[in-house]
Amino acid sequence: MTAKAACSDFLHFFRSWVSNPLRVAAIAPSGDSLARIMTSEIAALDGPIIELGPGTGVFTRALLARGVSEADLTLIEYGPEFINALQARFPAARVLQMDAAHLAHADIFKDEPVGAVISGLPLLSMSPRKIASILAGAFTYMRPGGAVYQFTYGPRCPVPRPILDRLGLKAVRIGGTVRNLPPASVYRISRRKPLELSRERLRYRDSDGEIDVAAFSGETGA
Ligand SMILES: C[S@@+](CC[C@H](N)C(=O)[O-])C[C@H]1O[C@@H](n2cnc3c(N)ncnc32)[C@H](O)[C@@H]1O
Repeated sequence: MTAKAACSDFLHFFRSWVSNPLRVAAIAPSGDSLARIMTSEIAALDGPIIELGPGTGVFTRALLARGVSEADLTLIEYGPEFINALQARFPAARVLQMDAAHLAHADIFKDEPVGAVISGLPLLSMSPRKIASILAGAFTYMRPGGAVYQFTYGPRCPVPRPILDRLGLKAVRIGGTVRNLPPASVYRISRRKPLELSRERLRYRDSDGEIDVAAFSGETGA
């Protein structure tokens, strides 16, 4: 990426943050160093991959650099201001403007399960309920052995322990970098036991139309 393009991305991102600081939650796009760690365990053979909150596409570019086919990417971005640029930059990828919390009911993969979910979502500014919906949704599409990769600017995994326990998941820190603004760590979140979350289980909804994660209680513990 040229210096001019990087500068234009920075301005685009910064303006988005000014207009919606809670949703964007960072003043600048992630750096290359963080993008490398986020995608370090991804191989071309991982097949369909979902990216949540791609923003200007820093992690998307890193995925392509690792040999992932653009056509294997589904980019889920809530911010309308990023959609046109993502479609123009990654024309073979599927770009969906939607809230990642609605993943489970979106029916976006009918056949092949996904190999990984790369998440740039600002979990620290989300409610526990929303985080649970996002993770439960992500794992309905995940093949056995697949994982969610999530970064954080905080000192620990941004998914609260009770949510990991309730969904039968575990989180492992796989790296971190100070060459990012701000410095960040990356966590791999995977199943403790294979395939405890099935799509049928996610038919449960509460009055808000959100996933009732309590429905998993006692069924997914490690
Ligand atoms: C911290 S930025 C990360 C952007 C990019 N991945 C990066 O690292 O530079 C968070 C991104 O998540 C998007 N986002 C926030 N909440 C979302 C949601 N509920 N569903 C989908 N995208 C969301 C924001 O619009 C923004 O693009």
